[in-house]
Amino acid sequence: MARHLNTIPGRLVMMLLLIHALLMPPLFYAISGTVESTMKDIFIDKLRNVAQIFVDRFDTLEPEASEQRIVELLDSAILSGQGRYAAVDIGGRTVTSSLMTAEDAALFREDFAFGENGDDVYYLSLPVSGLAAPAVLKLGYDESPIHEDLDGIRRTLIYVLSAYLLLTLLVAGLVSITVISPLRWLQSASRAISSGDVDRELRPDSRLAEIVALSDDLERMRRNLVGINERLRNEIAEREQAEADRHRLEEQAHHNQRLRSLGTLAGGVAHEFNNVLQPMVLYLDLALEDLPPDSPIAKNLARVQELAGRAKGLSQQILTFSRQDSNPRFVTRSIAPVAEEAITMIRALLPATLDLRVDISSECSPVRCVPEQIQQVLVNLCNNAYQALADDSGHVWVSLREVPVSEQLAGGHPNLETGPHVVLEVRDTGKGMDADTLERIFEPFFTTQEVGKGTGLGLSVVHGIVKRHDGEIVVESEPGKGTRFRIFLPPAGHDERS
Ligand SMILES: Nc1ncnc2c1ncn2[C@@H]1O[C@H](COP(=O)(O)OP(=O)(O)O)[C@@H](O)[C@H]1O
Ligand SMILES: [Mg+2]
Repeated sequence: MARHLNTIPGRLVMMLLLIHALLMPPLFYAISGTVESTMKDIFIDKLRNVAQIFVDRFDTLEPEASEQRIVELLDSAILSGQGRYAAVDIGGRTVTSSLMTAEDAALFREDFAFGENGDDVYYLSLPVSGLAAPAVLKLGYDESPIHEDLDGIRRTLIYVLSAYLLLTLLVAGLVSITVISPLRWLQSASRAISSGDVDRELRPDSRLAEIVALSDDLERMRRNLVGINERLRNEIAEREQAEADRHRLEEQAHHNQRLRSLGTLAGGVAHEFNNVLQPMVLYLDLALEDLPPDSPIAKNLARVQELAGRAKGLSQQILTFSRQDSNPRFVTRSIAPVAEEAITMIRALLPATLDLRVDISSECSPVRCVPEQIQQVLVNLCNNAYQALADDSGHVWVSLREVPVSEQLAGGHPNLETGPHVVLEVRDTGKGMDADTLERIFEPFFTTQEVGKGTGLGLSVVHGIVKRHDGEIVVESEPGKGTRFRIFLPPAGHDERS
């Protein structure tokens, strides 16, 4: 009950009922009282006039008029309208109308007010002078038609007031509907917003100024909240991104640091190794010069010389990786012919069964490079790709193109700048690598090949060369799916341009 009372229609109806309960009874009594007194006055005035006519008639009778004549006059007073009683007192004797019942005849009371004694009769008593002795004419008139009329008027009044009450309740209902329906709409929209539908606009279909102002304020609040929400979400995303970037950069720095110290260590060893190797080769050459070429010792020494050459090649590779290589010669030129030449070499070195697909664009910008080292990169990558193919069914793609580096790609590789780059790509459908292998491929001597088959130097050398060319290596690989190596090289003049 209290729940219903504490609503707009509940309050409105209660208030109207209270106001009507207080106002209607006095209104009813005031109206019906006024009507009643007016009607009584009219009734009494009329009767007085009628009575006066009879007094005049009695006054014009001759004093010795017969009782018969007097009774006739009294009868006509009864018959004239609402007469109930008619009598005349002549010197202590009472003559009554013949039309009155005995009951009526006993009625006469000295009550000259309307509605008194509840007998429905209004009495008049007037002196008559024309008769033999002083006389008083007494007349009684029926009040009941007036009472019936008054009852009718009161009933009508009650009907009118009830209809008025119903009408005001109806208007109150309509008013509350026009107020409540936009409020309900606002309520359901707010619920939808709070459960996530933040794009829902708060604009109810109403022209009520208060509702319009309220919904405007709520809508402004919604927009502010949505803005704050959006800002918070962006800020959180930015922070998360920054955190991820920082983490990745740290990992990369750590990785580079490891490669550098490994390079320094391996470079030092290779250097010392070279210092021992060089005099060994020199003494070998001298010894060979002193021996006849077809002697068995010379043959064995020639074998040693060959092995020493391979050892020199290995130490050279280590030095290339550790960038301790003696000043290589940089030239600025297009890589396309350099790559074509390397491909010819690769085709000769690798089995003819290898499905090598080449797409080299001659449109690429020139690059500041050491051509032999670029060829070395291509050879090493193709060699690895070939080795990754389990059987002869796979393919290897080599391509050279100039492509722009997107912000997204540059974001993941701190050494890579946005803008056009010459990209050397080697892709295979081989066995691919897992994350742990990928993590270590550039370390010198890291190999997953059997002992004696791989040196673990191929990619270390590639890494050293690409770093020296201010380039970047991007590797994507998935076990069982294949591997894609992309070498990004800045076009010559890039630095001057930027
Ligand atoms: N294209 C490739 N597909 C799968 N694994 C590769 C690929 N290239 C390199 N690897 C992995 O990287 C390791 C290191 O390569 P590398 O430095 O050339 O040494 P090696 O070839 O002597 O093993 C390889 O042993 C192999 O596990
Ligand atoms: Mg290799």
